[in-house]
Amino acid sequence: MKLPMYSNSVLVALGLFASEALASWQFRSRPDLDVPTLNITIPADDETSSGYIFCAPFSGYADNTNHGPRQAAPYIFTEDGELVWSGFSYFSIWATNFQAGKWNGKNVLFSFEGSHNPAYGHGHGHITILDDKYETIKELRAGNHKISDKHEFNIIDEKTGLIQIYQPVPKDLSAYGGSKEQQWIVDAVFQELDLETGEVLFEWSSLEHVSPEGSVLPINPGQAGSGYNSSDAWDYFHINSVDKDENGDYLISARDMASLYKINGKTGKVMWKLGGIPGNTSSSFTEAEKFQFGFQHHARFVATSPDRKKQIISFYDNSAHGSEDKNGHEVHIAEHSSGKFVEVDTEKWTAKLLNNYVPPYQLLSKSQGSTQLLENGNVIVNWGSEGAMTEYTHEGKVVFHTFFDSGSLGENVENYRAFKFDWHGYPTEQIAVFSEITDSGDTIIYVSWNGDTETKKWKFYSVTDDGSKNLLGESKRTGFETSFTSPNLTKAKIIAEAIDVSGRVLSTSDEVVAEKQVLPYKANDSLAIGTKNFRSYFSWKAAQQIFLSN
Ligand SMILES: *[C@@H]1O[C@H](CO)[C@@H](O)[C@H](O)[C@H]1NC(C)=O
Ligand SMILES: *[C@@H]1O[C@H](CO)[C@@H](O)[C@H](O)[C@H]1NC(C)=O
Ligand SMILES: *[C@@H]1O[C@H](CO)[C@@H](O)[C@H](O)[C@H]1NC(C)=O
Ligand SMILES: *[C@@H]1O[C@H](CO)[C@@H](O)[C@H](O)[C@H]1NC(C)=O
Ligand SMILES: *[C@@H]1O[C@H](CO)[C@@H](O)[C@H](O)[C@H]1NC(C)=O
Repeated sequence: MKLPMYSNSVLVALGLFASEALASWQFRSRPDLDVPTLNITIPADDETSSGYIFCAPFSGYADNTNHGPRQAAPYIFTEDGELVWSGFSYFSIWATNFQAGKWNGKNVLFSFEGSHNPAYGHGHGHITILDDKYETIKELRAGNHKISDKHEFNIIDEKTGLIQIYQPVPKDLSAYGGSKEQQWIVDAVFQELDLETGEVLFEWSSLEHVSPEGSVLPINPGQAGSGYNSSDAWDYFHINSVDKDENGDYLISARDMASLYKINGKTGKVMWKLGGIPGNTSSSFTEAEKFQFGFQHHARFVATSPDRKKQIISFYDNSAHGSEDKNGHEVHIAEHSSGKFVEVDTEKWTAKLLNNYVPPYQLLSKSQGSTQLLENGNVIVNWGSEGAMTEYTHEGKVVFHTFFDSGSLGENVENYRAFKFDWHGYPTEQIAVFSEITDSGDTIIYVSWNGDTETKKWKFYSVTDDGSKNLLGESKRTGFETSFTSPNLTKAKIIAEAIDVSGRVLSTSDEVVAEKQVLPYKANDSLAIGTKNFRSYFSWKAAQQIFLSN
């Protein structure tokens, strides 16, 4: 659908530049966007892998308009921190676990969208899948009249999807220290769904297989909920990831058990448990090399030996527990969090720490986090509630580090998971163009195309009344927004063409009329934020003149 194209002066007259309180005008062509500024403290070098950064930063404060990314949303960035796609407005309410994947041979994007309960670390909503044109092609909900949680969506074999559910159920909890009034517990459920039909192919319930007895966060003092009602149900297990191996068995992470479990894909029985805190958690393994972990996230199968007796798994070891809103108790079992790779041997029943990726800064995340192994062996660790991401070579050398969002707003930014993926985006959004004539008489044309990865250069034309085009010139694409300078083109109608690597025209913008613009101020984040910078004092004399003159 094409919307009527207003000239910039009409937009100014409508007051749209001035009144769009959320935007920061980082991009002349997109005055509606306010994109997080990545604070890259260790820039990419030639050991950094190719691919784009996929993240969804959000504010750690409940009041997310005055802190953290004002446009909290899924984003794609280059490793230089340059915007590729702003997913702001593509998903509603709150979106997390944003990734690229493959469904039936086609590249897709997906994200959880729904409500967020930062005190208990839950979310309620559904998975939305977009195609490579950024069009919604599927909304996936949990089956069996249950509501999907935010933590996991994992596409298996390009056909099925793993999701999980926090299902409050009433239960006699006296055996676990509960009083008569404390009778609600969270059943940690996961489902494997057919992506096409939504049919539930497999469902697993923690209460059917794992006793609440082993929880590292007991019902009292209630850090994981104290069971008084269904909203306050004791989250004894806190499932936060599900994966499936080639043999059809599952790997799940149970944060409040500080343990990982392998689940038989046919019977649902626990095949093994890897306990993280020796002495506090039981384990099927003796740890040959001593290591511990706890309150972990994002467990994944990495490789299986041909005889299936050994498996390498990866996960993000928080080694800390606390709520996402950072209220309430905290538990720390290490100085910092880390990305871990562990080999489990189910013949000798040993578990061995293979690699441990430690943060370049002292980052200990009380919630969230992820660890991704890239094809070239590099590793991405995302530091969850600490709002940062690091890339390592396989050997552990840091080759990139960024904090998500910097500047005065960047305090307390969190990011659930982050990844690097190759991606090709072909947006159906229109190309955005803005032109301004400077005091010296130059015309500067700014162009951008949200989500496009294919444009290599832009061609600029003026268009006469009879529709013929005169080439003004071209610019190599320089980033999300590219500019082109031409002599005074006052009143000329201008269009921009996106040209790909083979010289093909991908799309053409609508016409924009070049004219002198009202430019309120140069984008200056420290001016644009908060109210205190807008505060201005008048001299007493000036105030008397204003208020008492009539
Ligand atoms: C549920 O229990 C908690 C903890 O006792 C309490 O703070 C909350 O108000 C209760 N909610 C409802 C809906 O009763
Ligand atoms: C582990 O158990 C000991 C003894 O019960 C307890 O003092 C400690 O707090 C526990 N640690 C964790 C992280 O739960
Ligand atoms: C970027 O992060 C570093 C390390 O935490 C910090 O010292 C610096 O102030 C940050 N820069 C900005 C612009 O926020
Ligand atoms: C640009 O051209 C217009 C129309 O010819 C003229 O009115 C205007 O003064 C020029 N602006 C500058 C800065 O040269
Ligand atoms: C932005 O505003 C601040 C506060 O008024 C000022 O100190 C700073 O110099 C400005 N920066 C730019 C680039 O204009």
